[in-house]
Amino acid sequence: MTVAHQGLPGLLDTEAIRKDFPILHREIHDGRKLVYLDNAATSQTPRQVLDVLSEYYEQHNANVHRGVHVLAEEATALYEGSRDKVAAFINAPSRDEVIFTKNASESLNLVANMLGWADEPYRVDADTEIVITEMEHHSNIVPWQLLSQRTGAKLKWFGLTDDGRLDLSDIDEIITEKTKIVSFTLVSNLLGTVNPVEKIVRRAQQVGALVLIDASQAAPHMPLDVQALQADFVAFTGHKMCGPTGIGVLWGRQELLEDLPPFLGGGEMIETVSMHSSTYAPAPHKFEAGTPPISQAIGLGAAVDYLSSIGMEKIAAHEHAITEYAVERLLQVPDLRIIGPASAEDRGAAISFTLGDIHPHDVGQVLDEQGIAVRVGHHCARPVCLRYGIPATTRASFYLYSTPAEVDALVNGLEHVRNFFG
Ligand code: ALA
Repeated sequence: MTVAHQGLPGLLDTEAIRKDFPILHREIHDGRKLVYLDNAATSQTPRQVLDVLSEYYEQHNANVHRGVHVLAEEATALYEGSRDKVAAFINAPSRDEVIFTKNASESLNLVANMLGWADEPYRVDADTEIVITEMEHHSNIVPWQLLSQRTGAKLKWFGLTDDGRLDLSDIDEIITEKTKIVSFTLVSNLLGTVNPVEKIVRRAQQVGALVLIDASQAAPHMPLDVQALQADFVAFTGHKMCGPTGIGVLWGRQELLEDLPPFLGGGEMIETVSMHSSTYAPAPHKFEAGTPPISQAIGLGAAVDYLSSIGMEKIAAHEHAITEYAVERLLQVPDLRIIGPASAEDRGAAISFTLGDIHPHDVGQVLDEQGIAVRVGHHCARPVCLRYGIPATTRASFYLYSTPAEVDALVNGLEHVRNFFG
């Protein structure tokens, strides 16, 4: 599916791929072609996933793990089948290590709560430390602030360099014998930076700390191998990788999931219940209380099938080519400042920038009038904006269906913004 296009190496056949995405053919604002560059916020959904969702509701809809009737058995097989697909997609050693949640935020909060309620040796308490980074999404900051406030544990973080990378110069002082958990993003949603996982994991392992990786901006865009990452937990979400909203994943090492306590109690996470106490089902069910997001998990399974049929290596190569082209073209726009690495090396396909002193909300609005969808604001990563002394950015983010022509449309759109604001 790789074709040469405008001289960029590694591009996918976007003409064919875009036929799978009905929404990409929409026209907005009186006949303007939609240029969708907000993929880091949510990706679009291919017909292959939409079809699986409607077939599920038309043919198989029932609750899972509870019934003996045909529909219940079919729904259970589809739901559990998706767990198999996700496990294979991330190279998990066991399907039982894949927990379905409602989004990455819930996955991250689940780990924070497991550790807050855990016994030794995992327990986070006043004598221990939690390590995050200054480039985290709020969903990987606030749960740790809450845990720190509740337990007295000290919250520490890695700062950022001027070019948008993690400052690991003081890694041995930040991650110490007191560190219980190091939680960081693989790819920054605002800066686009791809972080050096191995270096951080090696230091965490030296001191016996657990590692949680937020792969929300990685799982959709590159091959993800949880065994190669050597982390203890990996979190991501379905709606950024061609799946529906309402489904997230937490992968965790089996022995940890066996030892750590549940966070939510309810139906289907138990073995037995009496009025005095309960015992719990084995993982992953111990962490999936109540009716789970059934159709959403099945939709995620279909999304994983879709992405795998194209190939994650090829998707990564396509995005790299588009990102390289976009960085080059954006840097030619007068007054444009990229917030984050100003090259395509070690960066993902989300590019944040400021344009002179034009407020990003104004940039976003004028781009929208031209049919171009970008995200503006602090992108739920406000500490990054504070670090670089800006209130907000405009962010363009690409995916497997993005084209060089869409980069050109963005650049032309920004010229229009500059003219509009004089
Ligand atoms: N986390 C999503 C973003 O970065 C919503 O836009």
